Amino acid sequence: MKYLKDANIKDKRVIIRCDFNVPIDNGKIMDDNRLLQSLPTIKYVYDRAKKVIILSHLGRVNNDTDIKNNTLKPVCDYLSSMLNINIAFCTYSDDINSLVNENKIVMFENTRYFDLDNKKESNNDMLLAKYFSSFADIFINDAFGVCHRTASSTVGISKFLPSYAGLLIEKEIKYLDIIRDNPKKPFTIILGGSKISDKIGIITNLIDKVDKFVIVGAMAFTFLKSLGKNVGNSIVDEENIEYARNLYNKYSNKIILPIDIYTSKELSDISKKELKNVDDIKDGDIGLDIGPKTIDLIYNNILDSKTIFLNGPAGAFEYSNYEYGTKEILNIISKIDACVIIGGGDSSYAAIKFGYKDKFDHISTGGGASLEYLEGKDLPGIKCLCG
Ligand code: 3PG
Repeated sequence: MKYLKDANIKDKRVIIRCDFNVPIDNGKIMDDNRLLQSLPTIKYVYDRAKKVIILSHLGRVNNDTDIKNNTLKPVCDYLSSMLNINIAFCTYSDDINSLVNENKIVMFENTRYFDLDNKKESNNDMLLAKYFSSFADIFINDAFGVCHRTASSTVGISKFLPSYAGLLIEKEIKYLDIIRDNPKKPFTIILGGSKISDKIGIITNLIDKVDKFVIVGAMAFTFLKSLGKNVGNSIVDEENIEYARNLYNKYSNKIILPIDIYTSKELSDISKKELKNVDDIKDGDIGLDIGPKTIDLIYNNILDSKTIFLNGPAGAFEYSNYEYGTKEILNIISKIDACVIIGGGDSSYAAIKFGYKDKFDHISTGGGASLEYLEGKDLPGIKCLCG
């Protein structure tokens, strides 16, 4: 892999591809982890290069409404204030050459606007890649979150310019490689979220390396059901019950499942909740969070861990009524003397929301990308930097 620090960018025009696909509500950035983590590369390039051109996608663009709703302008303003530098925003109807000439740093509008024309960006159209490349001498890919996709602004462009991995991609790979190839033992994975099917690849790739495998979130109900327990109306991934049973039977010495659950009859911030042992869940109950006995069980099993990977929330943490388990897991892993890496959009969001931004070794900016990387797949956005 070729890294930014090896590139001679002095007085060059440099394009940096970032992943600024961040949640925005009414123009307000709701999670700025991706922006924060991109700052080192942007500052490094800004201090040395002649011009800085920032590219990113935002959301998916299939129609005119998406065009209206997915402008990067709020991101450009937010980034300008984070850096305390004026970043000129370029739409595709502007005279981009003049804007690039007149400003040291510019951000182009959402690259996926070109998806309205035959999905050009997302299908890695080479003419579009060449167009992007025409504004620069060097390409830096720092968009780890989208490295599992093959797009004109991530992969195609690398065919036209000398290309390097930015500081964020370098950092992501460093930490994800610890988990993938070289975890210090004992190694613990805490997996939450709702669907087993999304996580089968990572379970298969990592289960033999792991010492403790903690399963929480809605995913746990598929396991509990596969063991013959009544899980009421909790979310169950019916297609993977057999898979869960086989996995549990083979690895029961490693797998830790919840022993108490907050249940309710409905999912809302004001619904009445009851704490139940897993054997007491009744028809009609919905399991929405893990309870304190489960937290103690997890803590006692993982406290000597030297590497911990957390992916997926323990409950419906978007509702304050059911944030206990997700918060407590963040709390206990922040106290353990281990290399702790958080992966996946929901866990990263929860870590930041509950005040753990600086408490861990790394909060990955990748959702799908970090999962695919940990499954052992080659990511096209990284592979193209290795030539
Ligand atoms: C993400 O948020 O996972 C990346 O930005 C990729 O977005 P996509 O799933 O829309 O390609």
